Amino acid sequence: QADVVPQAPEDPLFGLMAAYRRDTDPNKVDLGIGAYRDDNAKPWVLPVVKSADEILRNDPNLNHEYLPIAGLAEFTTSSQKLILGADSPAIKEKRITSLQTISGTGAVHLGALFLSKFYRPNAQRTVYFSDPTWPNHFQIFSNVHLQYLTYPYFSKKTRGLDFEGMINTIQNAAEGSIILLHACAHNPTGVDPTQEQWKEICKVMQAKNHFPFFDCAYQGFASGDLAKDAWAVRYFVEQGFELCIAQSYAKNFGLYGERAGCFHFVTSPASDAEATVGRLASQLAILQRSEISNPPAYGARIASLVLNDKGLFAEWEANLKTMSGRIIDMRKALRSKLEEMGTPGTWNHITDQIGMFSFTGLTEKQVLKLREDSHVYMTKNGRISMAGLNTHNIDYFATAVDKAVRE
Ligand code: LMR
Repeated sequence: QADVVPQAPEDPLFGLMAAYRRDTDPNKVDLGIGAYRDDNAKPWVLPVVKSADEILRNDPNLNHEYLPIAGLAEFTTSSQKLILGADSPAIKEKRITSLQTISGTGAVHLGALFLSKFYRPNAQRTVYFSDPTWPNHFQIFSNVHLQYLTYPYFSKKTRGLDFEGMINTIQNAAEGSIILLHACAHNPTGVDPTQEQWKEICKVMQAKNHFPFFDCAYQGFASGDLAKDAWAVRYFVEQGFELCIAQSYAKNFGLYGERAGCFHFVTSPASDAEATVGRLASQLAILQRSEISNPPAYGARIASLVLNDKGLFAEWEANLKTMSGRIIDMRKALRSKLEEMGTPGTWNHITDQIGMFSFTGLTEKQVLKLREDSHVYMTKNGRISMAGLNTHNIDYFATAVDKAVRE
C-alpha cells in the first residue's frame, strides 16, 4: 500500500544545507546549521579530540564489541558530573539514572517516549515548548503522541526575552504540565533568562507541580564556562524537582556525526529514591533496547577520555573558549559594521544574544532575498549560526544585510 504514503516536505535545515552545497558562487556564506566553523569556514576538529583519538587508536585493548544497553558507564557517570556538578546531592544520594543516547536528539526522544508511557498516564498531559524552539522538538514529541502547546519566549519588540508572557503561560498551564526548557544558549534565539528570572520560573513551576525537561545542547557555548552554563539545571535540581535532562556533545566537543549524548532522569529527594531510580532504569533499558539496542561507542569513548582526565579536561575547556571567543568576536564585529553603515534598525541584540545563534530580526522576505542576491544561507526565521561568519566574509555579509534591509 505504498501508494497511499503522501510526499513529506524536506527537512528545512538539512534542505538548506543541501542548497548551500549546490550553490557554486565563490562568495556563498553558510549561516544555516548550528555547527562550529573556524575562521576559514572549515569544520574544526578540537585539538583535545585529536589527542583523545590518538590515545584510543593506540590502545591495544580497543575493540568493537557492543556497549551495554545503557552505554559506557564512565561516560554516563562523567556526564552526570558535567551537567550537575561533581558534588551534586542528586549524585551523592543516587537519585539519578542515565543512559547514553544518539546525541541530544536521541536523549530528547528517549525522554519523550518514557514520559509518554509513564508520566501521568491516565491524565491529560501537555508539553510546553518555547515559541520559537528547535523545530525538531515538535516532531519528536508528536511521534510519541504527546500533545504540545507553546509558551511565549521571544519579544519581537525588544529582541530579548518575553519574560512576562513566558511566566504567565507557565502559570496558567494545567497542573503537572511538562515544560521543555533550553538549559542555556537558547536555539534559535540566543536569548536566555537571567538567574533571577530562572528562580521565578522555578517558583511558578513548583507551585503548579510542573515537570521540567531540560534540553542542554550547548553547555560551554553560552558563556564559555561549563558550570555557569549548567546553572539553571543545577538550581532546579537543588530545589528538589523531579526532572529530565537531554545532553548533547555534538557542539561542545565538535562530535556532530558521532552522535554522543546522554539522557538523565533525576528523582526528587526521598528515602526510597535509590529504589525508584532502579525501577526507572529498568524501564528505560527496555525502551532503549527496543529502539537502538545499545548506543554507538566511538564518540562516547572520546568524550569519556576527556571528561575523566584532568589534563585533557583543561585542554577541552581551553578549546571551548576558542570557539565561544571567536563567536563573541564575530558578534562584536557584525554589530559594529552594521552600526557603522547606519543600517536601518537597532543591532545591539547581536551582542546581547549568546551562544551559537543570533536571531537577527530579518524577515522571511529579506532572508530569501539574501539567499537569491547574495548567496547567503540562513533559516527562514532569520536565525544565523554565528560560527559561519569569519574575518573573510563578515564585510560581505554585513553589506548584504544592509542592502536587504534598505530595499
Ligand atoms: C541546529 O539547530 O542547527 C542544530 O541543532 C542542528 C539540528 O540538528 O537541527
